[in-house]
Amino acid sequence: MSATDRPAAAALRGRRRGPGFPERLELARAVVGYDEEDAWNVRLTRDVVLAHADELARALYRHLLAFPETAAPFLTAAGTVDRAHVERRVESFAAWLADADHLAGDAALRIASVGRAHTRHGAGHAARIRARFLLMAVGFLQSAVAGVLAADGTAGDDLVASIRAWDKLFMVHLDLFLAAFESAEGTGHWY
Ligand code: HEM
Repeated sequence: MSATDRPAAAALRGRRRGPGFPERLELARAVVGYDEEDAWNVRLTRDVVLAHADELARALYRHLLAFPETAAPFLTAAGTVDRAHVERRVESFAAWLADADHLAGDAALRIASVGRAHTRHGAGHAARIRARFLLMAVGFLQSAVAGVLAADGTAGDDLVASIRAWDKLFMVHLDLFLAAFESAEGTGHWY
C-alpha cells in the first residue's frame, strides 16, 4: 500500500484548522529555501543516496536502539529487540526515502501521515514517540547522507550543493512531521 493510500493519510485530510498540509509544505519549502536548484541537486544524487537506503536505515535504527528512550518502541514485552518490527521499519524508511523528493500532488499528506504514525494515532503497538526524537533522527540522517555523498566521491562545490539540498529537503519533511504531531496531539507535551 502506498503511503498516500493509507488510512492515516485519509484521516489527515481536512483535519487541520487554518492552512492545510499542502500550503504548509509550500511555505516550509519557501522559508527553508528549497528551490529548483536544490531539487535538481537532489535528483542528481538521488540514485547514490537510494543505493544506500538500507544501510542508512540500519544505521538509524541501530543508533535509536542504543538509547533506552528511543529503543523502547522497538522492544518486545520481554525487553528484547523485536527484529521483525525493526525489519518493517527498515523497509518503510526505504520507501519513504525513495519518495522523499516528490513534493507535488498528495505529497504533503503522504509526508504528514508518516509523522502521524509516530503519534498516539499511529496504528501500531508502539508507544507514542516524542517529536524531539524525530527531530534528532532527521539530524542523524542528514549527517549520514552527507557521509554517503562524500564517500561516493562527490567533492568540492558539488558536494556542498548536494548536502545543502538534501538537508533542506529533510527540513521540509520534518516540518510536516511536526505539523502532524500538532494536529494529532493538540497542544499537549508532544515535544
Ligand atoms: C528520520 C526520521 C524518521 C523517519 C523518516 C521515519 C519513518 C517512518 C515510516 C515511513 C514509518 C511507517 C509509517 C506508516 O506505516 O504509516 C515509521 C513508523 C515507525 N517509526 Fe519511524 N521514522 C523516523 C524516526 C523514528 C524514531 C526517532 C522512532 C522512535 C524513537 C521511530 C519509530 C517508529 C515506530 C515505532 C513506527 C511504527 C509506528 C506504528 O506502529 O504505527 N521512528 N517511521
